[in-house]
Amino acid sequence: MSKRTVYTDYFFDEPAYNTHDGGFIPLEEPKTPQEPLRIPELLKPDEETSTDMYYTVIAQPGEVQLLPGAKTKTWGFNAPFLGKTILFKNGKTIHITLKNELPELTTFHWHGLNVPGPITDGGCHAPVYPGESTQIEFKCHQPAATLWLHAHPCPATAEHVWKGLATEVLVTDDVEAKLPFPRNFGVDDIPVILQDRHFHKDNQLDYIADYDPDGVQGPTPVINGTVNPYFDVTTQRLRLRLLDGANRREWRLHFSDDLKFTQIASDGGILPEPVDFTHLMLTCAERAEIIVDFKGHKPGDVVTLYCDDVPVMHFRIHEFAADNTELPDHLVDIPDPEVTAGAPVHKVVMSGMDEEVMMNGKKFDMQRIDDRQQVGHVEYWDISNTNDMSNGMVHPYHMHGTQFRVVSRNGHAPYPNENGLKDTVGVNPGETVRLKVWFEHLGVYMNHCHIIEHEDGGMMAQFEVYDPENPKTYQLMDMTTLMNAFAKERGVAVKDLYIPGMDM
Ligand code: C2O
Ligand code: CU
Ligand code: CU
Repeated sequence: MSKRTVYTDYFFDEPAYNTHDGGFIPLEEPKTPQEPLRIPELLKPDEETSTDMYYTVIAQPGEVQLLPGAKTKTWGFNAPFLGKTILFKNGKTIHITLKNELPELTTFHWHGLNVPGPITDGGCHAPVYPGESTQIEFKCHQPAATLWLHAHPCPATAEHVWKGLATEVLVTDDVEAKLPFPRNFGVDDIPVILQDRHFHKDNQLDYIADYDPDGVQGPTPVINGTVNPYFDVTTQRLRLRLLDGANRREWRLHFSDDLKFTQIASDGGILPEPVDFTHLMLTCAERAEIIVDFKGHKPGDVVTLYCDDVPVMHFRIHEFAADNTELPDHLVDIPDPEVTAGAPVHKVVMSGMDEEVMMNGKKFDMQRIDDRQQVGHVEYWDISNTNDMSNGMVHPYHMHGTQFRVVSRNGHAPYPNENGLKDTVGVNPGETVRLKVWFEHLGVYMNHCHIIEHEDGGMMAQFEVYDPENPKTYQLMDMTTLMNAFAKERGVAVKDLYIPGMDM
């Protein structure tokens, strides 16, 4: 038996939990019958060779039976809601046709993928207009991880994600393939996209009605696009690829009877050492791969996953073969490069709440580059949250184009599960989190709070990764062009266009 510590803490500052926010909407247990958890099936490549993979990713409108009665109108990637799961093999060259079948422009952002910015990365500078398609191509070069794809058309990112434009992206590699993890997709290795929604008349979503500048929430947990899901457990060990895909909600997760589970991966890949928990908090956009061991449970048992005190998913235990696999105490080696001599320390300050949110005292501007870092250099970034400890929020800070290391929290060691590669980190009020950051590709990228309404509302900035030997100029999108396009597509005059995040 392993002697690893079992942590029972959420670690984040309790006074800053979203439950303390005036606008907090608690989850409620759905009253509808339990439904089998939807498993977002793997997207089939159009073609695959020993060196290349070809995909077509389509943003499309659809409708889905989320509740009894009327279907809900939604958006998704190659599916009516959320999407199919997309798999990239490390080392291959990936070619993707991005197709937009929605009535309005959107973008395809590969959250956590190390690719050049700003076009391949798919932020606001890379709109794909309705009825059009574009191509991207990149070499997948990073360790096995659970990443995700979501729309990012600022300042309508939050609305597009709310309608369903989010799905998991899995990177696989030879290192992960040799570890004793469950990896039978859909059977003992499953995506778990944690979201919440509010259903209005006829089971429809109404983003504008639910708008809250501190983040839109709803009372109904929706897991992989399933209300009140159950999952049939047929193996002793189950790997859950958890993604906080909510616009605003923090998920404080624990199982019935405080069943222990083991985190094996964070945002950017496998952790150097597995970490055992009974409780885990995820902030928006964070991922955690966990292994749950149902040893000691018998057919007919039900194990429930809770967020705070609300059941969000039920695991129905069936007959399974005994599995005594023990995880090694060391899983993988991960990079921890030396900071480049003489490098500056970057400062990022997240301030304000509601409409007042800012980054470094400014609102986001697509045409402004706020910071620069030389490609290949390794530099510290100090990320501060100046909200007040008594009524502030945890802001999940995210950077495009990299997987970083978390060095410290207010000078102290980071949380026990932050010793891996990450692209999003929750920053408590009054806290400064020091990151060690490096980039492999050139480009203009975004960094922001991942409460998506904060990002749309301007708690976002841009930086350029540059090479002094190879200076580049970028064609950056501007708000007027995007607003004119949205107005035309929505059939309204620009002055009548209303996207909540635009009042920034
Ligand atoms: Cu999930 Cu700007 O990204
Ligand atoms: Cu991102
Ligand atoms: Cu925020």
